[in-house]
Amino acid sequence: MLELANKRIVLGLTGGIACYKLAEFVRRATEQGAIIDVVMTEAATHFITPVTMQALSGRPVYLDPWDARIPNNMPHINLSRGADAILIAPASTDFMAKLVHGMADDLLSTLCVARGACPLLVAPAMNREMWLNPATQRNAAQLREDGVVLLGPAEGDQACGETGGGRMIEPDQILNELIAFFQPKLLQGRRVLITAGPTSERIDPVRVITNRSSGKTGYAIARAAHEAGAHVTLVSGPTALSTPYGVDRVDVESARQMHDAVMQLAQANDVFISVAAVADWHVVNSSEQKLKKTADNAAPALQFAPNPDILAEVAAMQNGPWCVGFAAETENLIQHADAKRRRKGVPLLVGNLAQQVMDADVTELVLFEEGGHTSLTPRPKLQAARALVAAIAQRLPRKNNT
Ligand code: C5P
Repeated sequence: MLELANKRIVLGLTGGIACYKLAEFVRRATEQGAIIDVVMTEAATHFITPVTMQALSGRPVYLDPWDARIPNNMPHINLSRGADAILIAPASTDFMAKLVHGMADDLLSTLCVARGACPLLVAPAMNREMWLNPATQRNAAQLREDGVVLLGPAEGDQACGETGGGRMIEPDQILNELIAFFQPKLLQGRRVLITAGPTSERIDPVRVITNRSSGKTGYAIARAAHEAGAHVTLVSGPTALSTPYGVDRVDVESARQMHDAVMQLAQANDVFISVAAVADWHVVNSSEQKLKKTADNAAPALQFAPNPDILAEVAAMQNGPWCVGFAAETENLIQHADAKRRRKGVPLLVGNLAQQVMDADVTELVLFEEGGHTSLTPRPKLQAARALVAAIAQRLPRKNNT
């Protein structure tokens, strides 16, 4: 499925070294079906050529408000009328100031003023002192107040050699935020806590006991909840996955660490989605030093103790979050998952067949609740995650103050 099928995007480039990153963005966004009209300020053309942007977008690049080749000579109207969104990236300090004041002295600023109801997304990119300058901060706040969506900026190394805030978010993050922008805001204002990945229980410094879990489903749900407008915290066991943009992540290793992190965060959240494959036991007599093989090659005598059941504990909380559990079963999914939902005391439990979903990119989720069960047909994990988020939003009790 193309994430931006037939979406018409006006991409405005302004002066900044981050311009080169937009070449990659245009490539990825067109792969996702977007139709991109690139508009460049004069300053932007010092950093990347219009030829590059034309080749990658497959469409003419607009530079000049006075272009007699355009039949009505009104590119500012033509471009802003047909667009699903206008994205300014990189957005310079100067261009943000112009937006705040409604200035219209080149094609890009003019089409922004002329945009009417067309959404405007802005990805600032500048030196840290320029970003921290009170005028820039005032402008950023004003843009937010005017309904403009600010993407970033991030913190990090800057082209000038300094380190700090003002760095443009990465092109794949801009792409994901653009995709997110078009998703329905079903969890706007909600706080969602998610556990994901395996936990890892130490035997000695080099050996662990763990459950097989890539974390892909939990991370996809975190991304989908963020897309739906929620504030998302992901408590993650060890995985090789990168954190979805906009999601807070807390890293843990053992089930007991996961338990402690969740207990600290649970009350502040509206929803708890327990996706993690939590190890059921930990090793009581784990060793500080690597266990050595003995002459008779005897297996070490490990002693196990049960881990806390994080989901059941959160589900039993007074005024706790609305809980969703997961069950990966290898057989008799219906009976096992239904029984598990009752045992854990959760309103919704999501079942899947372990051998079908582990490490896979496609998953079939079955929703178990009081009235029975329904299957969400197999689909890629992000699509499945979005369907689950929609199902949760539908079932979530209304907030007292809404
Ligand atoms: O008991 P079982 O591990 O089969 O239950 C699965 C569900 O319970 C999952 O949602 C999992 O994240 C959660 N769980 C938990 N703490 C445990 C074991 C499982 O939160 N110790």
